[in-house]
Amino acid sequence: MPIRFVTSNEGKADEAREYLDDVERVDYDYTEIQGDLETVAAAGARDAFEALGGVDPVLVDDAGLFVRALDGFPGPYSSYVEDTLGVDRVWRLCEAEDDRRAHFRTVLAYAHRPEEDGDVQVETFEGSVPGTIVAPRGDGGFGYDPIFEHDGTTMAEMSTAEKNAVSHRGRALATFADWLAGEPAQRKGAQ
Ligand code: IMP
Repeated sequence: MPIRFVTSNEGKADEAREYLDDVERVDYDYTEIQGDLETVAAAGARDAFEALGGVDPVLVDDAGLFVRALDGFPGPYSSYVEDTLGVDRVWRLCEAEDDRRAHFRTVLAYAHRPEEDGDVQVETFEGSVPGTIVAPRGDGGFGYDPIFEHDGTTMAEMSTAEKNAVSHRGRALATFADWLAGEPAQRKGAQ
């Protein structure tokens, strides 16, 4: 059974394909309620699962950049801030700070119906990575990748595989893939 990764972001889908065999990217604009990453991702997964027919499992990812000197800004508002201020201006906001430590965090929410007539269940998996905000470098990745440096390299300077090996999403995907491998429906020979 394919996993439908509900995202308009092809970069996220590429990252997921490094961990999961059968990922189909689906564009569906689920309702983004306000809240922390767990709440937003879980509500989005539940909404998308029902809207897409309530059969195939769906995966939703909600991520955010948390800058320590800015009290965690932009955090859950990272998407809005990227669209309005833009990544260069987030760098300029941080440029004057002595402490430019930050972290990226993501929560994956997986909505599925384990029993044919049973309730929908939503599982969440999280991952985070520490880094430093720097002047933009690199052409790869997406979003805040050019200004997020980890171990001397910005995420926009990494290949997808290199980014996955260290990134918040890579960590969450690895935990999710382990969990999925233990699910009865996924075990070899199960129907
Ligand atoms: P969302 O999870 O798609 O809502 O992402 C929130 C914001 O963080 C958006 O502005 C994304 O572009 C950005 N973002 C999400 N994941 C990453 C990442 O892995 N690297 C850089 N930016 C990201």
